[in-house]
Amino acid sequence: MFEQLQKKWKVNSLQLALILCTFAIGGSATGFAGKKIMNALAIGQDWLWTLVYILLITIIWPMAVILISIPFGQYSFFIKYIRKIGNKIGIGEKSQEPEVMSRESGVGTKEIRLAIFASGGGSNAAKIIDHFHSHPAVKVALIASNNPNAGAFAVAEKNHISTLFINKKVFFSENSYINELKSTKIDFIILAGFLWKLPSVLIREYPGKIVNIHPALLPKYGGKGMYGHYVHEAVIASKERESGITIHYADELYDHGKVIFQATCPVLENDTTETLAERIHALEHEHYPKIIEQVLKG
Ligand code: GRF
Repeated sequence: MFEQLQKKWKVNSLQLALILCTFAIGGSATGFAGKKIMNALAIGQDWLWTLVYILLITIIWPMAVILISIPFGQYSFFIKYIRKIGNKIGIGEKSQEPEVMSRESGVGTKEIRLAIFASGGGSNAAKIIDHFHSHPAVKVALIASNNPNAGAFAVAEKNHISTLFINKKVFFSENSYINELKSTKIDFIILAGFLWKLPSVLIREYPGKIVNIHPALLPKYGGKGMYGHYVHEAVIASKERESGITIHYADELYDHGKVIFQATCPVLENDTTETLAERIHALEHEHYPKIIEQVLKG
């Protein structure tokens, strides 16, 4: 039940505990204040007493939880929560944000929900999350990895994003993780340093909706074994004067699929694998989030 609440409210376990405390204390404070005021009013008739009491606690409760949320550091959660209730019962102010609603609400334009698949450090995942942080129509809803120690999981935790660990057997021979993607209502998959070839079942579920980034100018320096430092080593060994990044749709083959975007950078005389990797990473961080946004706009 607690896990479901965490997912629903997109909070970590500490925040969930603080939110529940706020609800509990807010509820008790409302009851206490309500009774005090009712005693002072000394209303005789039962029906009137009940009516006034209900009205009173309806007014006191939001104020109480908002006040109590402040020392618990949960003000922004509760202000949104109360506004949402207000909107539902038709007394809230209209949101200033554009009308982009999630699928759950079933109203307005559908929000696009992204899953990022990452096996390594997760620096691209972090940039993508930052880019879409307060985007009105796109949300990074899930971080998936085949590596339990992936840096991307730490990035997910910091940003309160749900995570999904996929082991090899599940990825290549079961569909349970696809069910998970579906139940999380994922619309689009972003590969950001994900090292496994994609099974056809996944491609079929997300046709034209999976993009990948490769740290070289494809079709050169791609394919099996061409990842991370191996790519840059090969580029330097071939005395290339130029390298770059390729963003492309993913298919069942490694580093294959229609190219969406490429950007280049020089390979310098004294470049090492590390210095080139750094230049390429900077290029990825600059372009990947923006290109994803363009792809999503169609
Ligand atoms: C990037 O260089 C990307 O091109 C490749 O894997 C690397 C991931 O880096 N596919 P990071 O984990 O995002 O830092």
